[in-house]
Parts: sequence; C-alpha cells; structure tokens
Amino acid sequence: MQASALAHPNIALVKYWGKRNAAKNLPAVGSLSVTLDTLHTRMTVEFRADGEDSLVVNGAEAPGMMDRVARCLDQVVGLGRLPAAVTSEGNFPIGAGLASSASAFAALVIAANTAADCGHDRLALARLAGAASGSAARSLYGGLVELDACGEQIDLVQIAGANDWPLRVVVAITDDKAKPVGSGEGMIRSAKTSPFYMSWCVRQEEDLAAAREAVASRNFALLGEVAERNCLKMHSVMWSSRPPLVYWNTATIACMETVHALRADGHAVFFTIDAGPQVKVVCLPESVPMVVEVIKETPGVQTTIVTGIGDGARVVAS
Ligand code: DP6
Repeated sequence: MQASALAHPNIALVKYWGKRNAAKNLPAVGSLSVTLDTLHTRMTVEFRADGEDSLVVNGAEAPGMMDRVARCLDQVVGLGRLPAAVTSEGNFPIGAGLASSASAFAALVIAANTAADCGHDRLALARLAGAASGSAARSLYGGLVELDACGEQIDLVQIAGANDWPLRVVVAITDDKAKPVGSGEGMIRSAKTSPFYMSWCVRQEEDLAAAREAVASRNFALLGEVAERNCLKMHSVMWSSRPPLVYWNTATIACMETVHALRADGHAVFFTIDAGPQVKVVCLPESVPMVVEVIKETPGVQTTIVTGIGDGARVVAS
C-alpha cells in the first residue's frame, strides 16, 4: 500500500488562464507545454489502516495544503479510502511560478494509483491531476504536450517526444518567494473583471494552431513568435484585471530585454513567463552558454537553472 512517483514541472508555451467550470477545474482554453527534465517533485503515498491523512513537504508538516491533496486522493482512490501518509520532496521553490503544483499533483496521482492498485490509465490520471491543478494534467506526459479543452473532459496528446526536438529552457530566478495571488484565484478574478478576457479565450485556438504547426515543422522562430505573443496576451489579461495581477518585477522586464537583444544578435531564443516573476528562456543547445552568461549578468537575476525536455510522470522505487 505504498508507492513513490516522480514528475517534472511543465512550462506552457500557449498558456492556460481561465476556468470554464471552476467546480470541476475545467480550463476555459487549451494549452501547449514542454515538460522539463532537471526540476522534479518526488511523492510517496502510503495508505495505512488507521490514523489520519498527513502531508510532509520538504521535511516539514504542511497542513495548509492537506485539503487539496486529500480531495485529489479521494478522486483517485474513492471516498472510502484508507488514511494516507504523503511525503513530497522537490528540488526547486514552491509557489513561485515554477509550476510546482503541476509536478506535485502529477506525481501524487501516479503514486496513489499504484499504492492503492486502482488501475487508472494515463489519460484518466491526467484528468484527475487536472481536476486538482489544471497544468498538472500536462506533466503526466513528456516532451511537448497539447491539452485540448473543447470537450466535456480534457484531452491530452504528446505532439513531440522528449528527444524529438532538443529544446533547452534557461530559467532565470528573480525572486523565489511564493506569489501573492495563486493562479486559480487569479484566473477567477480575470474572468470576472478583465475587459480582455473574452477575446483571450476566443483567440486561443489561433495560437494553438500556430504552435502545433511550429512543433510539427520544428520551426523555432514561429514557436517563439507564438509563445511570446501568447504570454504577453495572458499578462495583459492579468494586468487589466481588477485589482491588477502584476506578477513581474523589474528583473523580469530586464530579462525580456536581454532576450530581445540576444535575438537581435542572431540567437534563436524566446521567453515565456507564468504567474510569477521568473523568466523562462527557451533556446537550442548551442545557445545555452551564451544565454546563461547574459541572463546571469542581467540586473536582478539571482540564479539560473538550465533544463532540457523531460519525460512524463512515472513510478520510481520507494
Ligand atoms: C500561468 O495549473 O496552477 O502557469 O488549475 O487553478 O491549479 P489551477 O491553475 P494552475 O495554472 C497555471 C497557469 C499558468 C499557465 C499554464 O501553466 O498554462
């Protein structure tokens, strides 16, 4: 009745922002992401005959996150399940716009499914992870992943494998503190108050189609154009929400300028930014040393993490 699983966070190049059904946590828009390789969350779930649910995150009790974890376990295993002891360990900051909830819930559903021998397949587990955190559904798959939000339930497809296109992501950490407003709350605020929210939703399919085409033809320049445009549209929706959702700091903007300067110098590189101040710089392997060098020198950047493209969530030895 115990199992461990490991999952990587993923970074959306066409973003999920908005919920069609908040109770079921169904996204209002489709999204397209890359699963990373260096960063990970490892979850161990043990179902016990007695006691209460418990959650330890990076060595400390985390009662504040227990409800969301318990609800996810209920959905995977069923309401009559045994109490669970859950332990989570990650190698990167939580809640700072680095998709820690994506890797956490992806690893959680895999570990719980194995520990309780539930027999769900990967798509069913992705849907269960997505009910806990929309972006987590994508971390069940490796490589480049598209999440389709058109039907009654989400659908996911891997559109390129982890080794099919050697993309690299240089993450610029500009502030590793947890964000002031969580993504879920932010999305609900944007849907209620941003004058741009409706057109964000309506125009998403155009960006998805262009990104899909860019991946199919391995067209880096096109992927970069779509990803930066889509990211800035999402942040326009955030900024125009009331009260405004501004996740950037001055270093975030400085990094964007650095990326533009690199591109003007002929480097194949683009940025994307989620609900936090970190900047993810996507490039090809040959540009990594140059990107790291100039991003590190950009004022306000604390540190950088270099990642490649990783595999989907999987069971690992306990
Ligand atoms: C900006 O998946 O964290 O990173 O479903 O409410 O848990 P919930 O939201 P979450 O939102 C991620 C938002 C984003 C964009 C993206 O990853 O697509």
